[in-house]
Amino acid sequence: MTKIRKMLIAVLLMCGVSLLAFSALAQNNLPELNGNLNTRKAIIASESLKRDALCTKCHDESETTPILSLYQTKHGVRGDARTPNCQSCHGDSNKHIKGDPNTKGRAAPDIVFKKGEYALSDDKERTNQCLSCHKGEKRTNWDGGKHQTNGVACNDCHKVHTPTDKVREKKTQIEVCFTCHKEQRADSHKISSHPIQVGKMTCSDCHNPHGSSGPKMLKKNTVNETCYQCHAEKRGPVLFEHQPVVEDCANCHNPHGSNITPLLKSRPPFLCDECHDKPHASGSAVSAGAAGINGIAMNRNYGGRSCMNCHSQVHGSNSPGGGFFQR
Ligand code: HEC
Ligand code: HEC
Ligand code: HEC
Ligand code: HEC
Ligand code: HEC
Ligand code: HEC
Ligand code: HEC
Ligand code: HEC
Ligand code: HEC
Ligand code: HEC
Repeated sequence: MTKIRKMLIAVLLMCGVSLLAFSALAQNNLPELNGNLNTRKAIIASESLKRDALCTKCHDESETTPILSLYQTKHGVRGDARTPNCQSCHGDSNKHIKGDPNTKGRAAPDIVFKKGEYALSDDKERTNQCLSCHKGEKRTNWDGGKHQTNGVACNDCHKVHTPTDKVREKKTQIEVCFTCHKEQRADSHKISSHPIQVGKMTCSDCHNPHGSSGPKMLKKNTVNETCYQCHAEKRGPVLFEHQPVVEDCANCHNPHGSNITPLLKSRPPFLCDECHDKPHASGSAVSAGAAGINGIAMNRNYGGRSCMNCHSQVHGSNSPGGGFFQR
């Protein structure tokens, strides 16, 4: 009886071990496997990385850009079953490894991410390699986003063979974005701006560069929701709302920078005049002199804080008598 039991256990154990070895070979569909996950993952990851030797016998740190620094990044974690090998990104590249009798010299790898010896693969091919593992989450709206539709590929922003990836660091991200976005670079140097140049804030505080369901690839669904993340006090509700504020903060502000403090699109009273045609034209509230006589600008309206001399609560008022945003 005990013998039979022992044999049964032994057989079961052997099955287990061979299953383990088998699954290590079948190193594709990784996440579905169950059982002793940690051991298995370790085996699988190192098996996968062993295949790198196919490439690293020719490519190593002596390249113009070091190749093996990849192992200092999240893409080189040996204990992680999802870790890619060279071929997960560059493709099987069999002709490149063996040399191709039909081409003079060595055929290109299947996917070339950077123009050099070989022609660059088109943006869709490059992006699809990355999306094979990184679809979903922040990249749910990649397709249809302005970057995707304008031929920007993942590796136009991300560097994967270097230990630091500039675009993901708050202090260095703008260096990457500004290579293409000159207008926002110019804005960031203006007198009034968000603290972007000093590295306290960055583009991805407001934008999801992978695409979004909001306008202009903003992180949130509207401009205002994006601003409320940090300027919660402007959210309201207030007793008296100023319509353009509730609609869109960008009616009056340029979030990237302006020479008119604070981040204003134009200088009051002109800013206000864009919507308020000849305010006080009736002259009922203030003396004729306040608004000007026959359209000629005078005193209180145009000096100091301009219209805000009196309408100090432009974002809306919570005072029972604040219908005109004076308190
Ligand atoms: C037998 C040697 C050899 C093997 C094996 C090999 N390569 Fe190459 N590879 C080369 C040579 C030679 C070049 C030409 C450019 C150069 O001098 O680096 C090249 C170029 C490349 C380039 C383009 C570099 C550029 O600047 O344009 C990539 C990417 C690349 N190989 C990836 C791979 C990958 C991935 C593997 C494994 C699947 C691999 N190689 C295996 C020899 C090899
Ligand atoms: C996560 C995807 C990924 C993996 C894994 C990967 N590469 Fe790359 N490789 C890239 C990208 C993207 C570039 C373009 C340069 C960059 O972003 O750093 C590149 C560039 C290269 C280049 C050209 C270098 C240059 O700057 O001219 C070679 C050669 C290369 N890879 C070989 C390899 C080898 C060998 C391996 C395995 C050890 C490997 N790659 C693994 C994505 C990958
Ligand atoms: C075979 C799957 C696979 C492929 C292909 C792949 N990645 Fe990854 N990538 C991973 C894994 C696994 C991680 C680690 C995720 C984690 O730790 O949460 C990762 C992490 C990252 C990170 C975050 C790194 C960090 O330090 O947090 C970036 C950025 C990234 N990948 C970009 C790319 C780009 C760009 C490409 C295409 C050139 C690419 N990946 C291709 C599997 C892959
Ligand atoms: C326009 C520049 C840009 C492009 C193009 C881009 N990224 Fe990113 N990516 C960023 C920035 C900035 C961050 C850091 C901020 C964040 O997490 O949103 C980031 C973060 C990431 C991360 C780590 C955080 C996470 O989402 O898990 C991964 C993975 C990633 N990107 C993958 C990709 C892939 C895959 C592509 C191509 C489909 C891509 N990126 C295209 C700028 C870019
Ligand atoms: C404080 C939030 C915020 C920050 C930080 C920010 N943006 Fe924006 N960005 C916006 C808003 C809001 C819009 C939409 C403006 C509008 O509707 O007039 C926008 C629009 C854009 C546009 C589209 C412009 C157009 O005319 O269509 C680009 C390009 C852009 N931003 C790039 C950047 C870059 C690059 C950075 C980093 C230097 C950055 N943004 C930082 C909020 C921000
Ligand atoms: C390789 C060039 C390149 C890089 C790098 C780049 N962009 Fe763009 N970006 C574009 C192009 C091209 C467009 C579409 C044309 C335009 O609106 O200027 C665009 C459009 C945008 C828009 C407008 C989206 C819309 O719906 O109108 C925003 C916002 C933006 N980029 C933010 C960023 C941020 C943030 C970064 C850095 C993390 C960045 N971009 C890096 C090329 C780039
Ligand atoms: C990630 C946080 C964050 C987001 C999101 C954000 N801001 Fe700001 N904002 C700041 C910080 C930080 C300051 C600087 C405060 C200071 O200097 O005391 C600031 C300052 C301002 C100022 C005053 C600038 C000055 O010169 O005094 C205005 C106006 C402003 N933000 C408007 C906006 C608008 C509009 C949006 C949405 C498009 C927005 N902010 C989104 C963090 C944010
Ligand atoms: C009708 C034009 C207008 C709209 C719309 C508007 N603002 Fe303002 N904002 C101003 C003016 C004018 C000032 C300067 C106020 C002053 O000098 O008293 C200002 C100042 C600010 C300041 C700095 C001073 C303070 O009050 O904290 C912040 C932050 C700010 N606005 C955020 C926002 C946000 C967030 C939104 C959207 C919810 C928004 N603004 C919508 C006109 C506007
Ligand atoms: C984008 C257009 C727009 C801009 C810019 C704008 N406003 Fe308004 N404002 C409106 C609208 C719309 C109303 C609501 C009018 C109504 O209810 O009849 C309003 C209402 C007001 C009211 C209350 C008047 C009333 O009849 O309820 C005052 C006061 C006011 N705005 C002052 C200002 C000042 C001061 C500025 C400049 C800092 C300014 N507005 C900029 C569109 C704007
Ligand atoms: C000297 C103080 C003062 C200044 C400066 C001032 N206002 Fe007024 N404004 C008032 C008062 C008081 C009322 C209330 C009128 C009433 O009770 O009927 C008012 C009412 C308004 C109204 C609603 C009634 C109407 O006439 O349409 C608007 C809009 C308005 N102001 C816009 C502005 C704009 C824009 C500026 C800057 C060009 C400005 N105000 C400058 C005191 C001022």
